[in-house]
Amino acid sequence: MSDSEKVVAVRAALKNVPVPGGGSLADYSGLSDIIITPSAIAFAISVEPGMEGAFGPVQAAATEAAKSCEPDKKILISITSGRAPSSAAPGAQNGQGGPRNQQSAMQTSPVKGIKKIIAVASGKGGVGKSTCSVNLALALQSLGMKVGVLDADLYGPSIPKLLGLDGKPAFRNEKMFKPFEGHGLKAMSIGPMLEPDQAVVWRGPMASSALRQLLRETDWGELDILIIDLPPGTGDIQISLCQQVELFGAVIVSTPQDLALIDAKKAMDMFVRMKIPLLGLIENMSYFIAPDTGNRYDIFGHGGAKDTANQLKIPFLGEIPLHMKIREFSDAGTPILTIEPTGEQAQAFTHIAGKLMDGFEKSS
Ligand SMILES: Nc1ncnc2c1ncn2[C@@H]1O[C@H](COP(=O)(O)OP(=O)(O)OP(=O)(O)O)[C@@H](O)[C@H]1O
Ligand SMILES: [Mg+2]
Repeated sequence: MSDSEKVVAVRAALKNVPVPGGGSLADYSGLSDIIITPSAIAFAISVEPGMEGAFGPVQAAATEAAKSCEPDKKILISITSGRAPSSAAPGAQNGQGGPRNQQSAMQTSPVKGIKKIIAVASGKGGVGKSTCSVNLALALQSLGMKVGVLDADLYGPSIPKLLGLDGKPAFRNEKMFKPFEGHGLKAMSIGPMLEPDQAVVWRGPMASSALRQLLRETDWGELDILIIDLPPGTGDIQISLCQQVELFGAVIVSTPQDLALIDAKKAMDMFVRMKIPLLGLIENMSYFIAPDTGNRYDIFGHGGAKDTANQLKIPFLGEIPLHMKIREFSDAGTPILTIEPTGEQAQAFTHIAGKLMDGFEKSS
């Protein structure tokens, strides 16, 4: 059977996978091209804001359906989702990003012992912020920096899983949390303090106060860089962070899809309004390299983030390929930087970390 016949067969199998709202995945408008390689089948599903959970069973059923056509191939299905941004920042003003001292209008203050705090953000969910946060932190560490990671995604903490942290709540002494440690990084997350499957339902002031505690009541020691993994969008947590702390800058993660870029622009606009310097844009899931043939497939289109960065006159930091190893190692709590630090995927992160460090030198 030729590859195009296999695509037709997979698509036919996806006709039996229902999607929320009716119809089948085969006819769903958010389904990307289906890529077939000798060892893998890959495609992406783009979903509406708030529908990520509902599409979980679709992803599982689609994996089964694809597997039934090609039992010997690996199946890589990614879901990206947009989450609705909340209202604009209170007191936000129009204008371009400026130097850090302009934040003083918001009475931000540094965190003891930490030289630079960098937020990793996106407008859209599932684009790889947490994956980039952890791998960038490890890449910066490999370049000689002392690095920590704060999981600011209070509603969906994923740092404990990505860093393979043990499940016990953080130890607190004299009002200070002792941070977790994973692969040499200091890390703090609310995840281990929640019951399994417990949803965080705080809004506004409660979330803001929890974030302040995680950030300021953790004994970080001396860090060159603290990476903050944000939830998607431009909601309470982002705004509260920009108001509480002196951020060195923000890194924006997007996929090349137009929809993700529209959302990325909204996230960038929020940082500009809050006078936080934009350190640059990363294009994640930029392209797919078939592990067996080395052929390259632009699954979401390609280069959109670079064009957007050029348009907005902010640095384009680099491209991260869509690769099964990145997901599999992440899920196992052993990020690719720890397993194959010299491999092509890890080097993509190291390249970005190097660019960020060049930026530090220029700013100092
Ligand atoms: N470059 C990549 N190649 C393969 N899989 C990836 C890549 N980047 C991220 N993923 C996978 O995509 C999924 C979403 O990634 P991640 O959790 O980092 O996104 P996020 O933007 O932090 O999501 P959320 O908005 O829910 O916080 C994960 O399963 C992750 O392993
Ligand atoms: Mg995340």
